[in-house]
Amino acid sequence: MDNKSYIDPENIPQHVAIIMDGNGRWAKQHGEDRIFGHHEGVNSVREIVEACGEIGVKYLTLYAFSTENWNRPKDEVDALMELLVATISLETPNLHSKGVKLHVIGDVKSLPQSCQAELNESIKITANNNKVNLILALSYSSKWEITNAVKQIAEKVKSNQIELKDINSNLIDKHLNTSAFPDPELMIRTSGEHRISNFLLWQLAYAEFYFTNTLWPEFRKEDFYKAILSYQKRERRFGLTGEQIQQP
Ligand code: IPE
Ligand code: IPE
Ligand code: MG
Repeated sequence: MDNKSYIDPENIPQHVAIIMDGNGRWAKQHGEDRIFGHHEGVNSVREIVEACGEIGVKYLTLYAFSTENWNRPKDEVDALMELLVATISLETPNLHSKGVKLHVIGDVKSLPQSCQAELNESIKITANNNKVNLILALSYSSKWEITNAVKQIAEKVKSNQIELKDINSNLIDKHLNTSAFPDPELMIRTSGEHRISNFLLWQLAYAEFYFTNTLWPEFRKEDFYKAILSYQKRERRFGLTGEQIQQP
């Protein structure tokens, strides 16, 4: 397999979003605890971040922990939080040396203090990098994010900072956690599930979706490049006709 050499450098998505799913099933297949799968998933994260740097994907959003994931067994949630702290601390020098800038979206304040501290430290260290923007979605759900945006906008109308007529798609964009990033052109979900699970509902309005049965701990560079190749074969029409798109 050498998918990378077929990639058209002129048509690289700026922003790829990934629902990293299947860690638990992967662990089960190997006769291990679910948390073993989460540990192994970190290796896939490292590879995909590197792959983004290699082909020029500027923004990578990874769905690492959803609002709904808080309802998992306490042992698993605790282990995931510990893994997050350990991984950020261990990986920051590597991310920094590769020009990666870290961002977080989601209800960060709901994370344990140790996670928040580790994340803030890493965000500070990598703040001046600009090769790849790595955006971790943590304690994130799109409905939570949109609800917050609606509240903020309503507050501004109420206090006469803006008028009703000022509310448009751009204004809503500005009140989302992702206001600093372009919308993803490509969304990948691993593990064979064909759903969006409360991820970037607004931002994925016109994204191309790529689903693979590969479980996240087995999703590596070649799989990522395969997804990029699939994206490059799509015709993105944005409501127009195919003829309109093909006109020079
Ligand atoms: C994704 O893998 C990681 C998180 C949601 C934190 P899962 O833990 O959902 O793995 P499966 O879907 O149970 O196999
Ligand atoms: C989505 O995976 C959330 C993350 C990958 C962090 P889940 O495994 O939680 O999603 P569902 O419950 O199968 O939809
Ligand atoms: Mg899952």
